[in-house]
Amino acid sequence: MPKRIYLDHAATTPVDPEVLEAMLPYFSEKFGNASSLHSFGQEAAEAVGESRKILAGFFNAAPEEIIFTSGATESNNLAIKGVIRAYFRDESNKVRKPHIITTQFEHSCILKACQNLEKEGIAEVTYLPVYSDGIVKAKDVKEAIKENTILVSVMYVNNEIGTVQPIAEIGKIINEKKNASKDKAYPLFHTDATQAVNYFDCNVGNIGVDLLSMSAHKIYGPKGVGALYVKKGTRIKQVQDGGEQESGKRAGTLNSPGIVGLGQAIRLVEKNQKKDIKRMELLRDYMIERVTKEIPKTRLNGSAEKRSPNNANFSFRDTEGESLLLYLDMEGVACSTGSACSSGSLDPSHVLLAIGLKHEDAHGSLRVTLGRHTTKREIEMFIEKLKKVVGKLRKVSGDILEEYYDNKKGEADSCACH
Ligand SMILES: Cc1ncc(COP(=O)(O)O)c(C=O)c1O
Repeated sequence: MPKRIYLDHAATTPVDPEVLEAMLPYFSEKFGNASSLHSFGQEAAEAVGESRKILAGFFNAAPEEIIFTSGATESNNLAIKGVIRAYFRDESNKVRKPHIITTQFEHSCILKACQNLEKEGIAEVTYLPVYSDGIVKAKDVKEAIKENTILVSVMYVNNEIGTVQPIAEIGKIINEKKNASKDKAYPLFHTDATQAVNYFDCNVGNIGVDLLSMSAHKIYGPKGVGALYVKKGTRIKQVQDGGEQESGKRAGTLNSPGIVGLGQAIRLVEKNQKKDIKRMELLRDYMIERVTKEIPKTRLNGSAEKRSPNNANFSFRDTEGESLLLYLDMEGVACSTGSACSSGSLDPSHVLLAIGLKHEDAHGSLRVTLGRHTTKREIEMFIEKLKKVVGKLRKVSGDILEEYYDNKKGEADSCACH
């Protein structure tokens, strides 16, 4: 089998060997339940406490402001639904429907959580537009805030097109609104920072957030573990019933090996961040320049400047995303596409449609995401394979279109409908 090239690091990253090594004892000799009072439990609790401190240091938070979860999907659900539940706990709030502001291109777990609250009739939601550069405008957030706005949720880095949102600017606006409000409690500001932790400032004081979601498997940690930062004093209520873990905010036995892995992964982000960013930006720009120059009818989706160091999202006219992905996979290259075949029809990505792409561009999209170990040689090999695959697909679609138009010619003569 030829060497495989992995360019799908926004989907998940390999567990770093140092992370794995740190985790291993907590599957075997240090297997205790961190809630148990005996020495086995305390051994696990100590390790969990150490990871909590590491995360708190990274986010500039207090250890008790870090809630461990099963990943960003759960963190996001807890942030959105937990804030709404806490709001309704106060009897005087029951008369007024709370308002949430989010954006059209959030991850599906945010969009679906919001849509379900709307369906249940317990919240109203504004979905802010995203512009052609893939960036939300802070002034749109400001204008959308109403008297009953209790939560604003804007993702930090978009997972498909890698564009970076003005989180600190939005944070400033929301904090001004909050400070001017009667009880200084609302609106709260949440960001889904899942794709940002590797490369961007996640100091919660600098960016002005009350809640921040993240996931270990996007930062060379294990799958099934993540965290939610919750600023002290934030009104939030647990959404799953059970034990009193995580100061009553998240019930369920702690995933101690996963949490240890997450702590170690954060340590490695701190250690590698600067050099990762520099190296990846160079590689990304080299790839974007060559792909857009050497493959005709190609566009880069989203701002070239305000984007994650590891992300490039292209559209190739007259191709189709799933075919691109599968042909590249046969060539040994793993990427991702925003266009997925569902129930026999091809649904283009909601992200690409939100930034105004035409269906034909949205269909032929390819997300290429680099990682800590991606090499220039791999990028060069990828570009050669991509040229071959795009050429092949365009030839097929060209032949099909030619046949289609030949058939149409005869029909057009006898059709008076247009
Ligand atoms: C921006 C964003 N939010 C949330 C998630 C969900 O993360 P998890 O897989 O940890 O549930 C992802 C992962 O795909 C993501 O990229």
